Amino acid sequence: MTVCVASRNQEAPSRPRCRGALPVQHEETPPSQEPPLLEVRDLQTTFDLTKTLSICAVDGVSFDVHAGQTLAIVGESGSGKSVTSLSIMGLLPKDVGRVSGGSIKLAGREITQLSDAEMREIRGKEIGMIFQEPMTSLNPVHTVGQQIAEMVIRHENLSKSKARTRAIEMLELVGIPEPARRVDNYPHEMSGGMRQRAMIAMALSCEPRILIADEPTTALDVTIQAQMLELMHDLQQKLGMAIIFITHDLGVVAEVADRVVVMYAAQVVETAGVEDIFRNPRMPYTAGLMNSIPRLGSSINKQRLQAIPGTVPALTSLPAGCRFHPRCAFATDICKGAAPQLEKASESHMIRCARWRELDLNERQAS
Ligand SMILES: Nc1ncnc2c1ncn2[C@@H]1O[C@H](COP(=O)(O)OP(=O)(O)O)[C@@H](O)[C@H]1O
Ligand code: SF4
Ligand SMILES: [Mg+2]
Repeated sequence: MTVCVASRNQEAPSRPRCRGALPVQHEETPPSQEPPLLEVRDLQTTFDLTKTLSICAVDGVSFDVHAGQTLAIVGESGSGKSVTSLSIMGLLPKDVGRVSGGSIKLAGREITQLSDAEMREIRGKEIGMIFQEPMTSLNPVHTVGQQIAEMVIRHENLSKSKARTRAIEMLELVGIPEPARRVDNYPHEMSGGMRQRAMIAMALSCEPRILIADEPTTALDVTIQAQMLELMHDLQQKLGMAIIFITHDLGVVAEVADRVVVMYAAQVVETAGVEDIFRNPRMPYTAGLMNSIPRLGSSINKQRLQAIPGTVPALTSLPAGCRFHPRCAFATDICKGAAPQLEKASESHMIRCARWRELDLNERQAS
């Protein structure tokens, strides 16, 4: 059975970018005339759990990412954010997970059908990835310097001594003090924050065109978190990278994103520019996420922060119709019928909700 409804430096940040829960007024990066760096179309990723049971952990996901742009992918735990990024990186667990449909184009080149060797060429050089847990990508038995050097030797054919110099430069770039000494540290000799920086240094050592950051700050304390965000922003300015930032923290999204993709139960349920989605969420799930974070100007004690009731459904027992309907305060019989499609509300705003035209979520949120 396939349960797959394929609907077809240590300084604190110099410049606060976020005010409360709302993004700082900054223009969304205008739609570029250039083709997107990364084009994900109708991506479908399947896990074969047993011989007879498969689930669709990513079900028809589409988005574009342009050079210099930051796209945030948000949603509660289990919504398919990490599987989306692992699908792009070609890092799905072998024999269990596979891209079963759709397309991923990197600078116009289809990458879903590439061999392991071809994907190894792309990883690190074209797309770098940082994970929530640094030890996912740092090898405990090699020094941090050896690991960065190995990456640049593989992708850029540098000599050993030049690769070591590059490793020291990268550690300096990400604000690790005494980089010439730290380069010989093993990961366990570093603090959590330092390891996170070392992982970012490794991901950026070949100056990838795209950086995928999967919950990179979740495990960090707020000060280091702010430093990391500032660091990534600075590096993006310097290198012109596109960033895909995966998080369940909307405060962080307000700080870093140009565009936002909201995922729920393996699907995109809303996508828009960051200003638009914070000020005018049109899908009840997005509005629910917004309601669960503090707003500027109201003390947390005074305001009513509303968690969305219930939990994300298991992919093996998805509700009929709108996947969000058992948790949605606006659900009617219509919502339990046909599954809603992603519809265009404007050139840059897409919504998956059968009732989006008639709902006024801002009014509801204000009440
Ligand atoms: N290795 C795996 N094997 C089987 N199912 C998986 C695996 N990894 C993820 N999944 C399924 O995909 C869903 C989405 O996972 P994930 O993308 O990690 O969520 P998140 O949005 O929290 O990053 C999980 O709830 C689970 O059902
Ligand atoms: S389709 Fe219905 S249940 Fe789903 S989000 Fe819209 S109003 Fe809620
Ligand atoms: Mg995840």
